[in-house]
Amino acid sequence: MARLLVTGGAGFIGSNFVHHVIENTDHTVTVLDKLTYAGNRASLAGLPEDRVELVVGDVADAPLVNDLFSRHDAVVHYAAESHNDNSLDNPHPFLKTNVIGTYTLLEAARQHDVRLHHISTDEVYGDLALDDPQRFTETTAYNPSSPYSSTKAASDMLVRAWVRSFGVRATISNCSNNYGPYQHVEKFIPRQITNVIRGIRPKLYGTGQNVRDWIHADDHSSAVLTILDRGVIGETYLIGADGEENNRDVVETILELMGEDRSEYDLVTDRAGHDLRYAIDSTRLRRELGWEPAFTSFREGLESTIAWYRENEDWWAGAKDGVEAFYASKGQ
Ligand code: NAD
Ligand code: DAU
Repeated sequence: MARLLVTGGAGFIGSNFVHHVIENTDHTVTVLDKLTYAGNRASLAGLPEDRVELVVGDVADAPLVNDLFSRHDAVVHYAAESHNDNSLDNPHPFLKTNVIGTYTLLEAARQHDVRLHHISTDEVYGDLALDDPQRFTETTAYNPSSPYSSTKAASDMLVRAWVRSFGVRATISNCSNNYGPYQHVEKFIPRQITNVIRGIRPKLYGTGQNVRDWIHADDHSSAVLTILDRGVIGETYLIGADGEENNRDVVETILELMGEDRSEYDLVTDRAGHDLRYAIDSTRLRRELGWEPAFTSFREGLESTIAWYRENEDWWAGAKDGVEAFYASKGQ
């Protein structure tokens, strides 16, 4: 049994991880989350109170972070500003949370010699051509495109430097696009599902040719637990489930699964600097640590995600109008 501190545990992937830990281990969890627009207490509802505690606070608050590190065995760091479109609108909070926040955690890990796992993204590698046979690996050069991905790249570099210079016991994982329950309606898949529920036509950026490599959030969680248990300190592991799909196919599949005509969507203004394709080669994680994803069918994963949004309208309804107003102001 370990005492885990999970930053950003009231967000999408962090809350999925907390549910996964409670269901699959005997660890206790303290969530440190600022409850920004992206954090939601309701994502932790129903979890046992004797094993899960929520501390509302900022990862850049050094005294708070130091106190929490002194009382935990390991830290999994999910907290971030996570949305590319928001980073194009106002990069400042991305610098503060993703860079200064990670620095604050690293200094606490150094002071208290606490094991840290840093959650990052495949976007640090930039993008690939549609016909490129290569996929991202642990040795691909960093080449981030957006304010969001450049702050995540900076945070990865800080972790590497603190490992090498100060002996901090940290690992890093870079994962591909997640989908599943508890994802904010600003993101692609929940936006389209909730659009269909509300009778709004789905919105596809540009021509919809961009490719993302989808993984169910629960598979991301099992990979992170695997790295926490067996990962080598100082190493980076790429997490992906061979789930490449272009955005047009995703929207058409959502429409079909929701009983609508596959052509009932709009093409809207493209994202500035829009990365074309992401693709992860997760051979290292599979071979060296023995991890395998449990969700093998994207279509079935989408079906269960659609069912979750249909059944949990209370969870997302409050955010929907504001998100659509923001996108409408940008022609998206
Ligand atoms: P999210 O936006 O859904 O959740 C982020 C959480 O962090 C929220 O609960 C928010 O309240 C909290 N937070 C933000 N600023 C904070 C601060 N200063 N202090 C404390 N808490 C703060 O994000 P997500 O999609 O769940 O992503 C989680 C992590 O996974 C991020 O580090 C992201 O870069 C990474 N990641 C995401 C994906 C994806 O597909 N969503 C893929 C790979 C990696
Ligand atoms: O690859 C990992 C990254 O995946 C994470 O690091 C990010 O935190 C996460 O947000 C996600 O980034 P993307 O920019 O790929 O995700 P998003 O859901 O915003 O968009 C997915 C794709 O869908 C992208 O090509 C843009 C497109 N899109 C998005 C929206 C919101 C649309 O076509 N229409 C939309 O309405």
